[in-house]
Amino acid sequence: MSLPSDAFRLVAARPHDPLRTYHPRRSSLGPDREEDLRVHFPFLGFSVHDDTGDGPLDTTSMFGRSAPLVLEIGSGMGETTAVMAAADPDRDYLAVEAHLPGVASLLGLVARGGLTNVRVGHGDALDLVRRALPTESLDAVHVFFPDPWPKARHHKRRLVQPSHVALLRSRLVVGGVLHCATDWVDYADAMLEALSADPFLENTSTGFLDRPPHRPVTKFEQRGLDLGHEVRDLVFRRVR
Ligand SMILES: C[S@@+](CC[C@H](N)C(=O)[O-])C[C@H]1O[C@@H](n2cnc3c(N)ncnc32)[C@H](O)[C@@H]1O
Repeated sequence: MSLPSDAFRLVAARPHDPLRTYHPRRSSLGPDREEDLRVHFPFLGFSVHDDTGDGPLDTTSMFGRSAPLVLEIGSGMGETTAVMAAADPDRDYLAVEAHLPGVASLLGLVARGGLTNVRVGHGDALDLVRRALPTESLDAVHVFFPDPWPKARHHKRRLVQPSHVALLRSRLVVGGVLHCATDWVDYADAMLEALSADPFLENTSTGFLDRPPHRPVTKFEQRGLDLGHEVRDLVFRRVR
């Protein structure tokens, strides 16, 4: 896979939908992350924009096997992804992050941890899902602490909203789960409403869940906890 070109160090708006769900940031990588990107991206990374077409992503050749696939949208610096993937060797993890330093950070964790079941995508995960992940191709989708977009006029940028829920659910196998978590109370309520309204999904709990033990505390979650925020998990299963 090609190294992300300078032009795509700042992820461009998606062609289909100009509403980004992430904040574009131009931040320098620093020498260690530059090196991780240079060394590991060609083997463990891919660019959503440059390396995927309109056909399905060939995850079998990517991972060298055909195992149940987990998509993580917005893996941040990747600490949680690396821990979850290490504990779950029978599934493959596609972690997609729009922010290049996060991609570099996870690449380093994957390479140094000797993980063979993680590939890291740079770019817009929704674009990848729309163009390159077929229906019923995912065993799980993880959306942990998505950008809260707290102002009402920005709610349309939220990742978890009815149209995106329908899109992500369509890519789940029957029996697959959509696991979301947030530390923003009003976003949690909106997530619960959107997920509960989807006729193909069923809540695995009544309302919200406490953090399940297999999901380590994420970096953004810890920031929220330090500010006194309450964390809510939601795990919905595709039932038909
Ligand atoms: C608030 S951070 C949380 C990161 C991590 N999950 C955690 O809990 O520490 C949200 C992340 O999602 C990423 N993001 C938001 N929308 C995205 C999208 N459509 N595709 C890829 N990454 C996205 C942002 O760049 C950001 O790094």
